[in-house]
Amino acid sequence: MAHYVMCRPTYFAVDYAINPWMDPATPVDAGLAVAQWTALYGTYRALGHTVDLVDPLPGLPDMVFAANGATVVDGIVLGVQFRHPERAPEAPAYLSWFADAGFDTHEAKYVNEGEGDLLLAGRYLLAGTGFRTEHAAHARAQEVFGRPVITLQLVDPRYYHLDTALCVLGDTSDESGPGGFAGRPRPVVAYLPEAFSPGSRAVLRRLFPDAVVASPADAAVLGLNAVSDGRRVVLPAEARGLADQLASRGYEPIPVHLSELRKAGGGPKCCTLEVRR
Ligand code: ARG
Repeated sequence: MAHYVMCRPTYFAVDYAINPWMDPATPVDAGLAVAQWTALYGTYRALGHTVDLVDPLPGLPDMVFAANGATVVDGIVLGVQFRHPERAPEAPAYLSWFADAGFDTHEAKYVNEGEGDLLLAGRYLLAGTGFRTEHAAHARAQEVFGRPVITLQLVDPRYYHLDTALCVLGDTSDESGPGGFAGRPRPVVAYLPEAFSPGSRAVLRRLFPDAVVASPADAAVLGLNAVSDGRRVVLPAEARGLADQLASRGYEPIPVHLSELRKAGGGPKCCTLEVRR
């Protein structure tokens, strides 16, 4: 079972715009945002996962996006440093939560938006850059975690974080294949090729020859901002094509409604920080 950290959207709003999804002129139903988030929380609990809650802070409307609060691998916590000043105070709030919980914490030294841009795939960390997390932060993550980091270049501003363009689904049981994972089960991912530079697309094809290739329509409802426990994949309900693709690969798609949080550019994964002991 998985262990997640979430943050209730008590102070959620869209009153600044730091990505193309955000328009402060579009009304947000704050009550519905809380109800949708509460249903996501309940979904994880019903699946048997552990969910810890970080207290939301007034004046930080994006703090609900817990994935941006840290990266946690092997019980090691790498803190974050936000690109935009609007979100800066979230970084120490998340880091001190982990320090208080007894984790081995490390401060960010470069712009690094946590699991928004750093995703564990088998033994490797996939690391996005181009809009938020700086390339220098990838080297820092490699040093802190002692895991090989693979840099991926994002090119479409709508897919400003890696977790909006790529989802790690789980591991295959096939230990033989290509991709540098010989002798170990290979991770399986779903992604939108158009969100990546030509070189990064080639890297993804080499590493993940059996990836689920998502459609632009499914990505455009943040379908790739999904949370997999290796078997069950929690994803936006509107991503029907992706849900069918996942089901045909033997995953169980679990649709959730997050229309209000999507107005800030976030989906289920953005609301969910995975704690790996
Ligand atoms: N409004 C937030 C921002 O632009 C959304 C963050 C979404 N988080 C994520 N992990 N993709 O920073």
